Amino acid sequence: MDGGVLPWLPRRREGPTLDPVHVAHLALQDFRSYASAELPLDPGVSAFVGPNGQGKTNLVEAIGYIATQSSHRAATDAPLVRHGAPRAIVRAGVVRDDRQALIEIEVNPGRANRARLNRSPVPRPREILGILRTVLFAPEDLALVKGDPGERRRFLDELLTVRAPRFAGVRSDYDRVLKQRNALLRSAAAHRRAPGAEMLATLDVWDSHLARAGAELLGGRLELVAALRPLVAKAYDSLAPTGATELVYRSSVHGGGDGDGELSTDRGSLVAATEAALAESRRAELERGVSLVGPHRDELHLRLGDLPARGYASHGESWSLALSLRLAAFELLRAEGDDPVLILDDVFAELDTGRRSRLAELVAPAEQVLVTAAVPADVPSELSGAAYDVADGDVTRAR
Ligand SMILES: Nc1ncnc2c1ncn2[C@@H]1O[C@H](COP(=O)(O)OP(=O)(O)OP(=O)(O)O)[C@@H](O)[C@H]1O
Ligand SMILES: [Mg+2]
Repeated sequence: MDGGVLPWLPRRREGPTLDPVHVAHLALQDFRSYASAELPLDPGVSAFVGPNGQGKTNLVEAIGYIATQSSHRAATDAPLVRHGAPRAIVRAGVVRDDRQALIEIEVNPGRANRARLNRSPVPRPREILGILRTVLFAPEDLALVKGDPGERRRFLDELLTVRAPRFAGVRSDYDRVLKQRNALLRSAAAHRRAPGAEMLATLDVWDSHLARAGAELLGGRLELVAALRPLVAKAYDSLAPTGATELVYRSSVHGGGDGDGELSTDRGSLVAATEAALAESRRAELERGVSLVGPHRDELHLRLGDLPARGYASHGESWSLALSLRLAAFELLRAEGDDPVLILDDVFAELDTGRRSRLAELVAPAEQVLVTAAVPADVPSELSGAAYDVADGDVTRAR
């Protein structure tokens, strides 16, 4: 793939027809267990089948990584690099219609990653975000329902970034401001005396930075939750027709100070509301030495019927709800632009027959679906297509 037909840019959906976007080629170097691997891929369904620990998830994780620049199962990049190797490289040829783009990411743990588009370095890795969009379903998704609020915030922020790559910048601005503001609060708390005028003036400056970056992120999340709400309900209903779901975004910034006031998504009002909430909690923040207000403290509540899903839902209900969040993400992205590539890592084994075939029917129309399973019987018959055997790091086409 030379990516000779350029420039290649993602496109918004223009009509009812699906845009055929797919990964046509994957190449790995020192990624996870693979010293090197090369794999041509077709549109439609590809199933990767093989015993445990043979490298199936590693393959699809690489595709998810090059799309999102994060892994669904590692918090840092170090585990992605083959043990003993200095860096990993993931390269994907992405095709839409008759155009193609070659994207490449070099994973350098502890240092900045590097990216290339059509063999030319780009100034920042985030510039290749959006060329390939994926939605990945995996057993780890159970944490979306059962895990800490941070899991659900990450779900929202990652989806925001897939929808609009500029949110990568918004998120990193917010994280930077938060870190510096926390450092300032920590040092104020450590001194255990009333902060001086200079400290308070500095804090004012950080408040306004935090309010501005935070309002952007908060506004994006609120809009996203509003768009997801009906789609999650619909997905849950088709997977598990028992009980209704509800998504409630509870912000640490509240409208008008009454705790439950609806927040508008207007960025100016969100800046003002965040500043007001920061002023209210300043004393507590100075005492505790951390930022108590902002999107990093918010929670996306998931409810099933009248009860919170977390702590109440059964295992099967939690799993169906987690899948519904991913299905909703898929529906949202495909309604707004190119079909995302769907990755289903080991998800069918956990489901009963009804849910298994329902999920298969819902994902089958996607332009490209990559499935992993330990045994062929775990790939539903609705998802027929190419099949690969994965054994000991070798990937061979079986069908
Ligand atoms: N950084 C790394 N360096 C070397 N080997 C690694 C690295 N990270 C993971 N591995 C190995 O990769 C192997 C395959 O992992 P992978 O998760 O892809 O298996 P799998 O085929 O999906 O198995 P399962 O069916 O159990 O999900 C594991 O044995 C693991 O030890
Ligand atoms: Mg696996």
